[in-house]
This record gives sequence, C-alpha cells and structure tokens, in this order.
Amino acid sequence: MLENIQQMQAAALSALTTSDTSEKLEQWRVAHLGRSSPIMLVFTGLGKLSKEERPQIGQRANEVKQVLESAFAEKAELMRQASLKKALESENLDLTLPGRALPRGRHHPSTQTLREVCRIFSEMGFQIYRSRDIETDEYNFQLLNFPPNHPARDMQDTFYIQAEKDSARQEDNPIVLRTHTSGGQIHAMREFAASDPDNPPPVRVVLPGMCYRYEQITYRSEIQFHQVEGLAVGTDITFSDLKGTLSDFARRMFGQNVRSRFRASYFPFTEPSAEMDIECFICGGKGCTICKHAGWLEILGCGMVHPVVLRNGGYDPEKYTGFAFGMGTERVTLLRYQIDDIRYFWGNDLRFLEQF
Ligand code: DAH
Repeated sequence: MLENIQQMQAAALSALTTSDTSEKLEQWRVAHLGRSSPIMLVFTGLGKLSKEERPQIGQRANEVKQVLESAFAEKAELMRQASLKKALESENLDLTLPGRALPRGRHHPSTQTLREVCRIFSEMGFQIYRSRDIETDEYNFQLLNFPPNHPARDMQDTFYIQAEKDSARQEDNPIVLRTHTSGGQIHAMREFAASDPDNPPPVRVVLPGMCYRYEQITYRSEIQFHQVEGLAVGTDITFSDLKGTLSDFARRMFGQNVRSRFRASYFPFTEPSAEMDIECFICGGKGCTICKHAGWLEILGCGMVHPVVLRNGGYDPEKYTGFAFGMGTERVTLLRYQIDDIRYFWGNDLRFLEQF
C-alpha cells in the first residue's frame, strides 16, 4: 500500500511536467487531486484498513497530498508569470521607463504670499489676528473716521448687503463686504482694551484677509483680493518705528539690498499718511515697463493712527500713539512674478496655478 502511494506521487509529478497549458493543468488537478483521484480514494478507503495500518497510511497519503498541492501551486504561478511576460512582450511595454509623478497639491500663489508676509511680521513680534469678511458700515468706515457721505468713501466702491427696510439701525449702519482689512484695527484694539480699560495693553497685530470692492473687473482690478493690515499701538510709538519696521519688512520680503521710500499720502484713519515704494526689483531702479519707467513700485499704504481712531478703539490719544499699514498681497505677487493680469488669480486655470 505504501509503495502504491509512492507511485501515485511519482506518476502525478511526472504528469505535471507535461501539463503546460491552463486546460491541461486543470485536467491534472482533477485527475490527481480531485475527489476521485487515486490519492483521495486512499482517504475514502481508510476506514476499511486495519487499526495498525490506518495511521501510517493516512499520514503518508497526507504528505503526498501536500506535495502535490504545492507542486500544483508552484506550476500555476510559473505559468501565470510566463503568460504575463508574454503579454508584456507583445504589448511592447518598456518597464525601464521612469514612473509618472503623482500630481501634488500646493497652496494658491496668493496664499503663499499672504503666509510669507505673515511669517515675516510674526518674526518681528506681530501677532496674527483674524477679523470678519462681513462688516458693518460702522466698522468698515465710520469708526475709521469716514463719516457717512465723506468723499474718501469714493476711494472704495462698496458691496452693500441690502439693509432691511424696517430696521432703523441697519439703514444708517448697513452691512457691507469689507472693502479693506482696516476695520479689524478697531476690533483688535477694542478686544485688547477690554482686558484692562483703564490701562490698555500695547497692540502689535497683523490682520490678513479677503476684501471686496464693487469694481469693473479688468486686468488691473478685481472684485476680491487679499490685504494684510498691520497695527502697532503703544506709549512711545513714532513715525520712525513705522519706517524702521516697514523698511525691514521690505528687505526681508524682497532682498537685503532693496531700497524703499515713503511718499506723503492721505487716508482718513491715519495722520500723517504715507505710501511706501520699493525700488523696482526688475530694472533695479533704471525704469522698465513693470514700474512704468518710474524706477519705484508702490506696495503699501501706512501712517500714524489718527487720534479719533485710537479713541474709537478704546485707547486715549493723549497717552497712546500707533502706526498702521495695509497692503494688497495680490499686487505684491503680481510684481514678484511679473504677472500681467490680475484675473488669473481667481480664474482657476491650472496652467497658471501649477507654476507656483
Ligand atoms: N485700507 C487702505 C486701503 O485699502 C490701506 C491702508 C492705508 C491701510 C493706510 C492702513 C493704512 O492701515 O495706515 O487702501
């Protein structure tokens, strides 16, 4: 009997060597491992054997079954690989080609600039402060020293959110989409002052955020854009602090050798007011199309916080002074990368976005 089983194994293994198609392999499996294959019949016949023979024969049959099963699995795998290889060869695939890079997400160029500006100011000790996109007329204008009907409002065409007819309060204080981040100055000062109204603590914050203006969309103007506002309030803050801080910012942002200058300007919420230009980094000040042959690029508005604004924020203008600034970060990005049309920013064109 044992010899018989040994022969079954030898016969099956030799038959396997010639089973070289998948049909033949399947036939082999039925013939040598199927229910009525010789080795399986040994199992069914075990009951008829004597008590002494049974364990010995059973064990041997089991071993042979395992040998055949693993020989079968090995052969099947070899055949699978061979047919895969044949398919690959016939498809002319070049497996040595480098793989395709997976597309990687990244931040929008506006976000990148905004974060860089915030990083620079936070290194200088400014805290990042967020204020709301939807504002009241009071915070966006009145508390910043733009009374109703003040001509300076013409500088900022506003999206009004319809005031409710029956609400007297809303009519003289309509809800607007903020036209600039400057309203956040009042929120920040009031929040700081609330901690100690008699002796408000110094403020040093930057406020990044989206702003909205009711404008014709052209290559130079969009209805939405980002600004970063800055505010420093304390007991001995002077115009020199403003100049020092902003010139240092320009060097950190645009390179150690960049020169900057301040020009007198007007904003209702600062007095005196200025605009800061940096030397054109394209032409080095010689004059080119980017700087419109001026040699300088305007990058922000700034000034000493107006006493009325300090008082509206809860700071006594007799004791405190401060400086503020605001810059449009898309403008900075446009200049930096010499982009000639601001509409690319919100156009969602991947050919543009993927360059950053
Ligand atoms: N809010 C001004 C604008 O949108 C920019 C600005 C100018 C902000 C002077 C300031 C400032 O804080 O001091 O045009």
